[in-house]
Amino acid sequence: MNNINVNLYMSILIRKIKERDFENGFFETLSNLTTVGDIYSNDELKKEIIRRVLENQNHIIIVAEDLESSKIIGTATLLIEQKFIHNGGRVGHIEDVATRKGFEGRGVGREMIHKLTEISNEHGCYKIILDCDPNVVKFYEKLGFVKKAITMRRDL
Ligand SMILES: CC(C)(COP(=O)(O)OP(=O)(O)OC[C@H]1O[C@@H](n2cnc3c(N)ncnc32)[C@H](O)[C@@H]1OP(=O)(O)O)[C@@H](O)C(=O)NCCC(=O)NCCS
Repeated sequence: MNNINVNLYMSILIRKIKERDFENGFFETLSNLTTVGDIYSNDELKKEIIRRVLENQNHIIIVAEDLESSKIIGTATLLIEQKFIHNGGRVGHIEDVATRKGFEGRGVGREMIHKLTEISNEHGCYKIILDCDPNVVKFYEKLGFVKKAITMRRDL
């Protein structure tokens, strides 16, 4: 994957996650989205979750690496869903998009969504969908997403 100059002052690399990223700013970046929780203090749990995620070919996590500091400053996830309907089509589900606190507004989020779009195309997806808060609707609209349907949720 190629390096990207997101603006005059910063160069990033968008790539699939590697095991070492979990100790190099990945969780700090995710915490700009929500609470990461127990995984911080429980190494066994962390290892088990990393193992489960990395062995699933349809669970794709990308990161944005700041090439100056080598730190992770962005992450986003793509889940590939194989369907029976739509002639056995596939759908890309985007989850857990976060730019590290202090690095927002420099094009990192945009480049990550472009990359997930490219990967979705490579996997033959006919659409990409996601849920988001009202305060980030504009961000996704700028990237070609449109409002459609309603999210339903039941807490368990
Ligand atoms: C939402 C988020 C991922 C955006 O990432 P980012 O790296 O700051 O976004 P970018 O700099 O690539 O922004 C791309 C464009 O969207 C705009 N944009 C970004 N966030 C926006 C927002 N919340 N509202 C309106 N516009 C927004 C930028 O101004 C930029 O516009 P431009 O192309 O006209 O210059 C980031 O702010 C973040 O991590 N927020 C906290 C976690 C979160 O809410 N994640 C979304 C989960 S669905």
